Amino acid sequence: MITPNLATAISELGGLIEDADRILPFTGAGISTECGIPDFRSPCGLWIKNQPIPFDVFMASGEMRDESWRRRFVMEEIFAKAKPGRGHRALASLYRAGKVPALLTQNIDNLHQDSGIATQDIVELHGNTTYALCLECETRYELSWVREKFDTSGQHAPDCSCGGHIKTATVSFGQAMPVDAMRRGEELTRHCDLFLAVGSSLVVWPAAGFPPMAKHNGAALVIINREPTEFDALADLVVRGDIGDVLAPFIAG
Ligand code: APR
Repeated sequence: MITPNLATAISELGGLIEDADRILPFTGAGISTECGIPDFRSPCGLWIKNQPIPFDVFMASGEMRDESWRRRFVMEEIFAKAKPGRGHRALASLYRAGKVPALLTQNIDNLHQDSGIATQDIVELHGNTTYALCLECETRYELSWVREKFDTSGQHAPDCSCGGHIKTATVSFGQAMPVDAMRRGEELTRHCDLFLAVGSSLVVWPAAGFPPMAKHNGAALVIINREPTEFDALADLVVRGDIGDVLAPFIAG
């Protein structure tokens, strides 16, 4: 069912939330656009302006590692000042109410953590851009350290003392998905009774496989997104509206 208007959407969604015991939010970049962070595939999205740097290219080219870090630091002001939006706060309210045991996200902006959901209850399928890791020895590096090395070396990406390349703790195209996150994501998906896909175009696999998996395991499927997705026909409820407007009524406190 595609809801005809916001009031119907909120009423229908409220009924499903009321009836559910184990809600699994699955978020994409659309939940963070009202926080000032662009998404990827909207007309002003990041992949419209820049082609993503595939993992093998990052590993093979020092120039592309420099470019990757240049792009990340161009975004630093946006990421640093972003605060959780109405969607994040509504999901955090449902988490505090005991309706959301854990949350699955494709986002890398740390805003679900900032909204008060415990880190151990957030499954980051595509990692986190607020810190960096050595790809060899997995040493953690803070962005301030990388930035200082980057700036004082004439905008060159630093390497780890072990010789490994340092990259934000995100998953690039062509990079292996985090095994634990995928396993936990699948477990949560199979056991939820309401799957809320919020702000994702649902085009990137294997993450896009979770909504149909939830539905095929008996959960109700809700898709909240401005644009149509390929899973709309499978959903019990499709809300084609602004995430903040739709979820604001579920913010408690
Ligand atoms: N309200 C409702 N929908 C919105 C809003 C909003 N305020 N802002 C954006 N959207 C919608 C867009 O219309 C779009 O369909 O959110 C969706 C975001 O889709 P994408 O930009 O494709 O982002 P996402 O689905 O998270 O991308 C998945 O792709 O590039 C990789 O790793 C990256 O995790 C990302 C993955």
